[in-house]
Amino acid sequence: MIISLVVAASENNAIGLDNALLWKLPNDMKFFKNLTWGMPVIMGRKTFASMASKPLPGRINIVISRNPNALPIMENVWPASSLENALALALSSDCREAFVIGGGDIYKQCMTMADRIYMTRVHASYPDADTFFPAIDETFFRIEHAVDMPSDEKHAHSYRFETWQRVDDTTS
Ligand SMILES: NC(=O)c1ccc[n+]([C@@H]2O[C@H](COP(=O)([O-])OP(=O)(O)OC[C@H]3O[C@@H](n4cnc5c(N)ncnc54)[C@H](OP(=O)(O)O)[C@@H]3O)[C@@H](O)[C@H]2O)c1
Repeated sequence: MIISLVVAASENNAIGLDNALLWKLPNDMKFFKNLTWGMPVIMGRKTFASMASKPLPGRINIVISRNPNALPIMENVWPASSLENALALALSSDCREAFVIGGGDIYKQCMTMADRIYMTRVHASYPDADTFFPAIDETFFRIEHAVDMPSDEKHAHSYRFETWQRVDDTTS
């Protein structure tokens, strides 16, 4: 099973403030939906709360908490007590790829186990954000694919869809 992180981060790696996103980028939402549809998504309890504790439709929502019994019992919400438990649950769904969708705490812990990172790099800086994505270590990951997207009336910032792949042989 491929373990992928999916994130939208500003130039200074900001991803959130006050348990909410920092921007509205409808095309990024569409990209996210198309990418993850039908697949398990893994998230921290705070990210789940930021979605009004409603599961993303069409996907198994694996929510990680140290107190998983306190999570609401809902269809397509699978509570997990640890990262390892979350990945085992994703594997049990027989998927080819599991998507870790945040937030900052969970990304930080998943960095060493990620095979791939889908990064939407938002061309703006948010120094006052309170949640950040870890810097990508280019010894271990390289960009395989990138598409530049302009700003327009629906997108206040230009942005770039980047697919980073783990580098297997660091000597090449
Ligand atoms: N821009 C983006 O792409 C993006 C994507 C997702 C989220 N976000 C933003 O990120 C922010 C939320 O991120 P966050 O870092 O505050 O929180 P988070 O990573 O979503 O959730 C943290 C919570 O996950 C649980 N947890 C973490 N590690 C665990 C472990 N090893 N075992 C068991 N449970 C564990 C704990 O829940 P308990 O406290 O219940 O134990 C912890 O409080 C929001 O602002 C959100 O909008 C941005």
